[in-house]
Amino acid sequence: MTANEKTSVARLLDLASAVASGGYMEAPAEYAFADDAETDSFHAGAVDNGIVDSLDQIAADARACAACRLAQGRKNAVPGEGPDRPFVMVIGEGPGADEDASGRPFVGKAGQLLDKMLGAIGLSRQTNCYIANVVKCRPPENRNPQPDEIAACAPFLERQARLLRPAFILCAGKVAAGTLLRSQAGIGQLRGKITEIDLGGFTAPLLATYHPSALLRDENLKRPAWEDLKTLRSALERAGFFAEEN
Ligand code: URA
Repeated sequence: MTANEKTSVARLLDLASAVASGGYMEAPAEYAFADDAETDSFHAGAVDNGIVDSLDQIAADARACAACRLAQGRKNAVPGEGPDRPFVMVIGEGPGADEDASGRPFVGKAGQLLDKMLGAIGLSRQTNCYIANVVKCRPPENRNPQPDEIAACAPFLERQARLLRPAFILCAGKVAAGTLLRSQAGIGQLRGKITEIDLGGFTAPLLATYHPSALLRDENLKRPAWEDLKTLRSALERAGFFAEEN
């Protein structure tokens, strides 16, 4: 509500109370209301668990974070990027060297393949897909993030999911899939199935597939990954996305 709207409501209430008490009206009160924060803007912030939060705020917090050892080795934290009302939130493992250098997710070879995979089903980080990672800082030597690092970083991912409210979550690889599905199983078992998950109080259907780096190492994984992407596209169409194209 704007400050003007709040003042109008307060004056109406004053008037109603004057009428109810026999028509005696004191001098009008001076009000100094402020506009409410926007609740659906990338920049202005949205209410998250009673706190005004925004993707900009999450990014600033990630850049200032020292909650785990990964902070010590980073050049740049990599909070994520994409539109603020995406169809899909893609979640990878963690930044590599290219991402650490640029502060942007999935910009190296694997990222270029990811963009092609998403493009094949009508998704892109420019229009309808938000790209994030389980950890926001690069693990040394590209090792897997460790459980305590993932736990330290989880609040960022949860805040992002609550703000973005994506219709779907796509996990790229075992680390992201295992973390969100709370499973130790291999990606071969986790992929291809749609499962409803809870991410910090926000629930969404999740599909896991192979990490694009795995596809770069093993061509044979491209076919099952393509099957997964078609599963995602069909689910999005069933949910009413892309209706104007069909
Ligand atoms: N691999 C990931 O999992 N995430 C990135 O951002 C880049 C490579």
